[in-house]
Amino acid sequence: MKFWQCASLLLGIWTLFPLQQATLETEMAQAERLYQTHCAACHGPKGEGGNGPTLATPKLTRATTDELLFKVIKEGVAGTEMPGSRLDDMEIRQLGQWVRKLGQMPIEQVAGNSIRGEKLYLGKGDCASCHAINGRGSAFGPDLSEIGLRRGAKHLRASLVEPEADVPKSFLMYRPGTSVLENFLQVRVVTYEGKHIQGVRVNEDTFTIQLRDFSGRVHSFFKSELKELHKDWGKSPMPGYRAVFSPQELDDVVAYLVSLRGEK
Ligand code: HEC
Ligand code: HEC
Repeated sequence: MKFWQCASLLLGIWTLFPLQQATLETEMAQAERLYQTHCAACHGPKGEGGNGPTLATPKLTRATTDELLFKVIKEGVAGTEMPGSRLDDMEIRQLGQWVRKLGQMPIEQVAGNSIRGEKLYLGKGDCASCHAINGRGSAFGPDLSEIGLRRGAKHLRASLVEPEADVPKSFLMYRPGTSVLENFLQVRVVTYEGKHIQGVRVNEDTFTIQLRDFSGRVHSFFKSELKELHKDWGKSPMPGYRAVFSPQELDDVVAYLVSLRGEK
C-alpha cells in the first residue's frame, strides 16, 4: 500500500513538473503577444521606446512597484498619451510580467554625453528660445521637463533631424502634469493693415484666432480683420538640426533629452 502511494506521488511530480514548465512558457509567449499587439507601437518591439518611453530599464519611474505597474497598464497615465486598457486583469498581470522581463534586458545605450548635450541645448542649439525645462525658457514649443519619461531616444533624434516627420503626432500634446491639450499648428496671418505675423495657434473658434509669436507674445484677431490666414498643417515651426549639429553633438543632445525626467 505504502509503496504504491509513494510511487504514484513520485509519478505525479515527475509528470507535473514539465507540465508546469510548459504552461509558464506559453504564458510568457502569450504575454509577449499581448505586448506586441497593444504596446509595441509606442514602446518599441523590444521595449526600447519610441513615441512612449523605454521600458527596457530596471527602474521604471512611475511603475515602481508591481501594484503601480498594474495600475499604470490598466488605467493609463492621466494627462499623457499612455492609454488605459480594456484587457482583463489576468492579461494585464501577464503584460506586467512581460514589462518586468523587458526591464531585465540591457539598458538602452545612449551614445552621447548629457552634460555636453545641455551646453549645446543652451548654446549652439538655442533650444531654450522655444522650449522650457523646469520653468526656465520659452513657452513657444512643448515643455521638455519630462521628455525623457515620455519619448525614446530614436524618436527624440528624429524630432531633431526631421521635425516635419513628427508633426502630425505633435499637433496634440499634453502640457506636462495637466490634462491641457496643446497643439502646435503653425499659422501665418496678414491683416488688412498689412501686418504679417507668424506663430503657433493657441486657440481658435468660428470668429476669432489667437496665436503666439516667437517672442512669446499672444495675438488675438477677429477673422474678419484678416486679409490672409494660412494654417501650415504638416509644417513644424521647429527648425531641423541635421546641418547644425555634428553626429556626435546630436548624440549629446539626445542623451541630455533622455536624462530629462522631471526631477529637479
Ligand atoms: C499611444 C502610445 C502608448 C501605448 C499604446 C502604450 N503606452 Fe505606455 N506610455 C506611453 C507614454 C507616452 C508614457 C509616459 C507617460 C508619462 O508621461 O508618464 C507611457 C508610460 C508607460 C509606463 C510607465 C513607465 C515608467 O517609467 O514608469 C508603463 C509601464 C507603460 N507605459 C506600459 C505600457 C503597456 C504595457 C502598454 C500596452 C498595454 C502601453 N504602455 C501602451 C505611451 C503608450
Ligand atoms: C523656433 C522654435 C523652436 C526651436 C528653436 C526648437 N524647437 Fe523643438 N519644437 C518646437 C515646436 C513648436 C515643437 C512642436 C511641434 C513639432 O513637434 O514639431 C517642437 C518639438 C520638439 C520636440 C518633440 C517633443 C515631443 O513631445 O515629441 C523635441 C524633443 C524638441 N522640440 C527638442 C528641441 C531641441 C533639443 C531644440 C534645440 C536643439 C529645439 N527643440 C529647438 C519649437 C522649437
